[in-house]
Amino acid sequence: MVCRLRLSTYMRLSTVTPAFRRLGRQTFSKANVFHSDRSTTVRGRVPLSIWEKVTAQLHNQSLHPLNILRREIEAHFEKTYPSLFELHSSLSPIVTTEQCFDHLLIPPSHTSRSPTDTYYIDKHTLLRPHMTVHDVPLLRGGSEAFLLCGDVYRRDSVDRTHYPVFHQIDAARLFPCGTSQEYIVDDLKSSLSGLAHHLFGPETRMRWVEGSFPFTSPSFELEIFWRDEWLEVLGCGLIRRGVLQNGNVSNDVNGWAFGLGLERLAMVLFEIPDIRLFWSRDTRFLDQFKDGDFQRKFKPFSAYPSIEKDISFWIGEESTFHENDFHEIVRSLSEDLVESVSMVDRYKRAERTSLCFRIIYRSMERSLTHVEINELHDSLREFVAETLPVTLR
Ligand code: PHE
Repeated sequence: MVCRLRLSTYMRLSTVTPAFRRLGRQTFSKANVFHSDRSTTVRGRVPLSIWEKVTAQLHNQSLHPLNILRREIEAHFEKTYPSLFELHSSLSPIVTTEQCFDHLLIPPSHTSRSPTDTYYIDKHTLLRPHMTVHDVPLLRGGSEAFLLCGDVYRRDSVDRTHYPVFHQIDAARLFPCGTSQEYIVDDLKSSLSGLAHHLFGPETRMRWVEGSFPFTSPSFELEIFWRDEWLEVLGCGLIRRGVLQNGNVSNDVNGWAFGLGLERLAMVLFEIPDIRLFWSRDTRFLDQFKDGDFQRKFKPFSAYPSIEKDISFWIGEESTFHENDFHEIVRSLSEDLVESVSMVDRYKRAERTSLCFRIIYRSMERSLTHVEINELHDSLREFVAETLPVTLR
């Protein structure tokens, strides 16, 4: 069989040896991926497919499109504010829940605390879901202006623009005592619209809309008009007093912070059609960025045919099933052969609900065969039946 699947996270359960079967399940078993008791904070540990990404550091790989964009943004800030911002791009993505949530005033009920959204390593440690987690420790260490780049992790749906690992640039800047809030907001907005014009061109239309983040107030989002639609590109605002206090910043000092997703920007800028491409080692992708030009447009090298398959199951009324768990299994078992997963049907009968998901299999690099996809899909069904609180139809 053509096996693009990682043996340690995926096993053809019917044919592998018992030792391999144990190994396969060890990394992605019911016990360590899902916690049946939703009241605990730990839903499960981090699957191997995610751990493998922790060491990739795409944003630090020379001439990778994410690295090109990161450097362009850093250079823009350096040019606009010479020697003002400290740069960090190797901060560890493993952080504490205190740092991730409490420092940033994220309330106990906030969805980002849920193990269905965030990768917990244990009850007190997790893979950062955003780069803002570093603000308070850096402020405590005396930093007054910094630009951070790193990999962030979120359980999410599977489609062309979402991937469980992506990259962000975050920044914060404090101002001298007594600087007015109006001045700081003006500085924030002009820095960011300057950046957007630099990246997308002076003609680009953009607008500010009200945002909402637990750690900033007021908060804003910047949207740019791109191919007939408004696209949100970043979030920002004035850092809340409580966060500054957590960072031991004195009471008369204020500052701004912002955060942006690099993949989202890079997809627009380089015209990259599918987020999985950032993880590709295919030279037909990487070689197109060899000159480091941030205005380069990607020329797709293929449109390989897709294979669609549906999977349907029942969930009970009290079921702990969460859609993100299903997406995660699909992404993990199929490596990057799945382009999207979407719910195509949902109905209730008596005490149960029937869900049907359509999976579009399509490789970015080659044609898939029906034999391998049938095999993969069967294994997926088997795995879903074993690990999720559902009954296959
Ligand atoms: N951390 C936010 C996010 O991931 C972005 C943000 C950073 C917003 C800093 C405001 C200030 O969406």
